[in-house]
Amino acid sequence: MKILTTIEELRDIRKKINSSIGFVPTMGALHDGHISLIKKAREENKIVIVSIFVNPTQFLPGEDLDAYPRKDEADKKICNMCKVDYLFMPQISSMYTENEIKVKAPNTSYVLEGFSRPGHFDGVLQIVLKLFGLVLPTNAYFGKKDAQQLSLITQMVKDFFLPINIIPCEIVRETDGLALSSRNVYLNKKQREDALLISKSLYAAATLIAKEQRDVEIIKDKIYDIMQKLEVEYVAIVDREFNEVSKIDLNNTIILIVARFGNTRLLDNIWL
Ligand code: PAF
Repeated sequence: MKILTTIEELRDIRKKINSSIGFVPTMGALHDGHISLIKKAREENKIVIVSIFVNPTQFLPGEDLDAYPRKDEADKKICNMCKVDYLFMPQISSMYTENEIKVKAPNTSYVLEGFSRPGHFDGVLQIVLKLFGLVLPTNAYFGKKDAQQLSLITQMVKDFFLPINIIPCEIVRETDGLALSSRNVYLNKKQREDALLISKSLYAAATLIAKEQRDVEIIKDKIYDIMQKLEVEYVAIVDREFNEVSKIDLNNTIILIVARFGNTRLLDNIWL
């Protein structure tokens, strides 16, 4: 595996690649969720490129940019073990300039995460577009846990006619059900235990739906009931365009939950 820290190095390497490239953009602190994306990229492409860049523009003032876990040495080992060809770890100063052109997420995205974190998706799209422009991947891999992010990146690729396939990847969970997230490290023992109520309530919703329940209010009641001791930010049952729905459609529904544990926000979801 070769580590690239400058745009020039990446550009030089990229010019010489004529085969399929699988790209996994990350902010580091890699866990099994990222590993599953990298493995899929490894299976489906000749060359695998991973980026690690804690992108400042997607953090709002007062969010955890400074505290965000950085584990560069462990991450390098993981990428090496996963047979990544190139690991791109640029400096902030090389990725951004002053007064640059900005990408703006559509107004319709200012719901759920877009509402709770206004401006977050502008930053995500800005950096992903820059990374796509440098890596020029064939396939790019994103987890379904960040459902709105995945949807907006898919839309950006379509709207800007980028010749890149966006590959959605399944959520990876601990054996007890907790969805993997780099932010799980912030949880203390009690919060970690309580956080299990999120996946528990999603499983309960899935069970109700399997028993033919289609009424969204009844399903939400069940979810809120299980999570009553948590600080729930939102429970939303939406279609793939993130419009709230009143009836479950088995081919077009996502159930999303965000809950807070102290300063830590955890999100999880299931796609029907
Ligand atoms: O999902 C993430 O880790 C980030 O939002 C991404 C896509 C790497 C952009 O910084």
